Amino acid sequence: MVVCICNRINDRDIRNAIHEGASSFSDVRETLGVGSCCGQCAPFAKELVDDTISQLQISQNYNLAYEAKV
Ligand code: FES
Repeated sequence: MVVCICNRINDRDIRNAIHEGASSFSDVRETLGVGSCCGQCAPFAKELVDDTISQLQISQNYNLAYEAKV
């Protein structure tokens, strides 16, 4: 799904940026340029960044808990 029309950035680009180390909307904006033109996409892009970071943290916590049991 296209998130930022101005910079042709989709949701996969944003998720990949987070998995490669971006840890905030500011990081993603700096890396990809999302929200840096008209700004219309910024609220949704920020929500997507926050949701992806939360999911990644839950997954990491689950893996740590699993490893502690093994
Ligand atoms: S749609 Fe993202 S900056 Fe314009």
